[in-house]
Amino acid sequence: MSAPPRKARERAAELRTQLGHHAHRYYVLDDPEIGDEVYDGLLDELRALEEAHPQLQSADSPTLRVGGEPVGRLEKIEHLEPMLSLGNVRSEEELRAWVERMRNHLAREGIAEPAFTYVVEPKIDGLAISLVYRDGVLERGATRGNGLIGEDVTHNLRTIGAIPLHFEDAPALVEVRGEVYMSLADFTALNERRAEAGESTFMNPRNSAAGTIRQLDPADAAKRPLSIWCYQVGVGEGLSFTAHSEALEWLREHGFRVNSGIRVLESAEEVIAQCLDWERRRGELDFEIDGVVVKVDDLALQRRLGAVGRDPRWAVAWKFPPTTAVTKLEKVMWNVGKFGDLRPYAVLEPVRVGGVTIKLATLHNEQDILRKDIRAGEEVIVVRAGDVIPQVVSPAPHVAEQKDRPQAPHPPERCPFCDTPTVKPAEGVFTTCPNRDCPARAWQLLKHFVSRGAMDIDGLGEKQVALLQERGLVCSAADFYRLSEAQLLEIERFGELSVRNLLAAIESSKERPFARVLFALGIEEVGEVTGRNLAQSFRDIDALLAATPEQIAETNGVGEKMAVSIRAQLDEERMQKLIADLREIGLRFHDEGPPPSQGPLAGNTLVLTGSMPEWSREEATERIMAAGGRVTGSVSKKTDYLVAGESPGTKLEKAERLGVAVLNEAGLRKLLEGS
Ligand code: IVH
Repeated sequence: MSAPPRKARERAAELRTQLGHHAHRYYVLDDPEIGDEVYDGLLDELRALEEAHPQLQSADSPTLRVGGEPVGRLEKIEHLEPMLSLGNVRSEEELRAWVERMRNHLAREGIAEPAFTYVVEPKIDGLAISLVYRDGVLERGATRGNGLIGEDVTHNLRTIGAIPLHFEDAPALVEVRGEVYMSLADFTALNERRAEAGESTFMNPRNSAAGTIRQLDPADAAKRPLSIWCYQVGVGEGLSFTAHSEALEWLREHGFRVNSGIRVLESAEEVIAQCLDWERRRGELDFEIDGVVVKVDDLALQRRLGAVGRDPRWAVAWKFPPTTAVTKLEKVMWNVGKFGDLRPYAVLEPVRVGGVTIKLATLHNEQDILRKDIRAGEEVIVVRAGDVIPQVVSPAPHVAEQKDRPQAPHPPERCPFCDTPTVKPAEGVFTTCPNRDCPARAWQLLKHFVSRGAMDIDGLGEKQVALLQERGLVCSAADFYRLSEAQLLEIERFGELSVRNLLAAIESSKERPFARVLFALGIEEVGEVTGRNLAQSFRDIDALLAATPEQIAETNGVGEKMAVSIRAQLDEERMQKLIADLREIGLRFHDEGPPPSQGPLAGNTLVLTGSMPEWSREEATERIMAAGGRVTGSVSKKTDYLVAGESPGTKLEKAERLGVAVLNEAGLRKLLEGS
């Protein structure tokens, strides 16, 4: 193929410069100089040139904004520097305490009276992104992932108009970090479009941004408008800033979108005032923020302060309090739990809280409803804090004074699922359905059996379990292991591949350790921790089945009353049969491995907090216990190590105060290896 003529090459370069300039005016400065049609005309001309002369295509061509080649899958990318997370503060006192901690830390480093200047930024509720530019051309963009390794989403990031594809006056290598998000207006419009097309709608702007960024085909991503606020310069060859605010200014000058509400402030009191101001103005913004980020401006001080686990000491997130709304409580309905317990929930007139439309909320239990004086048919206050299940907190202020209020809700006299008369508790909180064969109750037990901390069978969610139950294929947990390919294929929702995967997942669940099997059985007092403790002290089901309540009560964390109840449940005929069946099927009813008293962590007590990059909490706990260590829930003087993952919270503060050694996952691995 012959080289493109000089004229074509020159025109393409000119078009790229013009399109780059106009994208910056439009997307970054929000101040366009030309209309959309003119922009599209220039883009069309460039596209035609590139089609005629494919050598003219380049990684930074604006034609990629409307979608380049789809990718087969998202590749993993190691970040040049770890992407950190942030510790939280929730009050003025906590913010002051953070400043105090920094002072103490620096004092230990020999810096007596540090003069802090702070940068206060909105905490955008989107997803963190890393952009790597080589010689000013966007080379790679990735999601945060676990902070060390993210996913390559360059193809989709190129479709975001506010992200420069190239910039002038650039160092050889620079990494820019920021938060990709969807504006509220774009989010609403997108959802309306999807609803009209009969497609599912997104829960909130963050979910829709995250879903968009992970698309394989950039043409799909291009159809959903995203934007970015840039807030950090990572690695930068030949760049030497002395302050974070300088780096932000550099970003702005080089065409990156930096929020104009960011302030540089001199005192903690000014910082607090600014945080409260953002909190007040939160609802006026065209994007969701879930807090405010406060950073120490001086980069030399930042370096001296360093990080604890994944959280820098030099920055903190001021989190907003849970969001509330008022709506009508239409009715109270009742679910049946694993042990027949009737659990109330609220059906609400749909309302938007903290960025999500909610229709259901938990009411915890009967007493709670009475205590809070909540009545169906009235207006109530609902709270949704972060990702937690929404809750009804109280009647709306004006309601309680009214006369002729509706009756207080009370549990139904017959089980809503099997019509058995319900039983009021002699003690305890819940009215129960006493029917052991109640389908709702069985469903809860089956769901529990396959759930994450228990047998962890991938591909069996609550819907699948319900389907299997309805078809009469699964009555007891042992039936999961008796399912055949032919039976599953008859269910319309199960394809050939998913059936094969499911059967493999069921088969491999037979490898779960004894502790998990004990937990999965669904014994009322046996949670994950007690399951592990029982497995550790008895090591074998026969030993446990032969134990007296007194012997069971010798187990760590098991009281006398609990032991009697556990004993009684083990004696029930259906439990005996379940254990016998599962045993025959080949599940583990014996603890393997050397006795933990000889492991490298023998005699040590550890506490886990925050999420770790590789291991789930269950995995980490299992490993610690296999090495002879104990895992407890709260930090005390007796704690030997705190293992802190991401967003560790107050346990970390307490550990620091008590002088307890703090480790991250890598540190834990070393301990487990005995080094
Ligand atoms: S700084 C210190 N600045 O919050 C390094 N993060 O909880 C941490 N975020 O993963 C990042 N707005 O997704 C920083 N102005 C801002 C931010 C911000 C939102 C997010 C980001 C990060 C998370 C940390």
